[in-house]
Amino acid sequence: MMMRITGTGSALPRETVDNNQIAEWVETSDEWIRERTGIGSRRISTGETVVSLAAQACEKALQQAGKDPLEVDMILLATCSPEYLLPCCACQVQAQIGAANAVAFDINAACAGFLFGLNTAYAYLQTGMYKTILVVGSEVLSKLVDWKDRSSCILFGDGAGAALVEAAGEQEQPCGLIAGVQGCDGVKGMVLKCRERALQNPLFREEFQDGENLYVQMDGREVYRFATRQVADCIQEALEKAKLSVEDIDLFVLHQANVRIIEAVAKRLHADMQRFPMNLEQVGNISSATIPVLLDELNRQGKLHRGDKIVLSGFGAGLTYGACIFVW
Ligand code: COA
Repeated sequence: MMMRITGTGSALPRETVDNNQIAEWVETSDEWIRERTGIGSRRISTGETVVSLAAQACEKALQQAGKDPLEVDMILLATCSPEYLLPCCACQVQAQIGAANAVAFDINAACAGFLFGLNTAYAYLQTGMYKTILVVGSEVLSKLVDWKDRSSCILFGDGAGAALVEAAGEQEQPCGLIAGVQGCDGVKGMVLKCRERALQNPLFREEFQDGENLYVQMDGREVYRFATRQVADCIQEALEKAKLSVEDIDLFVLHQANVRIIEAVAKRLHADMQRFPMNLEQVGNISSATIPVLLDELNRQGKLHRGDKIVLSGFGAGLTYGACIFVW
């Protein structure tokens, strides 16, 4: 059973925050941020939520695919920044868009979440259990970021991207998702973390250490090392699975964390940078939403053509990583 993307959509908060604004809050500069990350600005929520952004992105994807929300069987929403622990964001999106027939749940695989969502959708499609699935990445990371920590607050932004995936039936040529690889390295997980509430019940009280940081904490260098190696390796593995080579690929749509990471991956793969589209200059790192937001941008700009071979690949907290190969 083939799985195709038949519609994409995205939604970003209204407010843009550029590097100069951040330089008013912490000791940094536009020049430093651009040189080390490639990021120039990001969208920051002034009230938009993971659910409201995801619902908008899903509606646009459905509209593009010409599907009614009632035709959706499943909503898989990747996020690591939900507004509520209960109910999950996916169920709230189900209610907002009126997808009454869909089963819905969240996936937390941080920045690789959308890819894990695609692979999960693929597995469900293979069993024949569901045929029409919304896969969404949506984040409001600005509430998890420590706006006094210049090494991390410069990186992240808010937004959502969605893809409607559908069973394509038997086709003469391979199409849709043709190979997927995903993995985790939990041992190194604490290099990128964000603490939640302490355990406090009638039997046990876990006190937070005085001044314990409840915001995103990151060992940037360690994450950088992991990403440059792991992303290139898993793309190679996915290419081997698909019996393709780097030369066969038209576009590498990578997680938009840092231009230097993307350049390092391109170098490792011996691929030219022209095939690595980027939007991080305008929107920064939106975790699980970066890949579907960029995919939607490319799709709406007419840059994805039938038959194009596209690699999607990302990495994130967990540590998680993954790559998929699509024939568009
Ligand atoms: N502005 C100015 N100076 C800054 C700064 C900022 N925003 N952030 C850090 N610095 C300083 C540090 O304090 C340090 O100063 P020191 O040498 O006086 O101690 C110096 O710059 C170098 O810091 P370092 O952390 O070694 O910089 P780096 O070259 O590793 O760049 C990152 C930092 C975060 C840009 C880089 O490590 C990175 O991109 N890592 C990957 C992070 C990522 O993508 N995370 C998301 C994964 S999904």
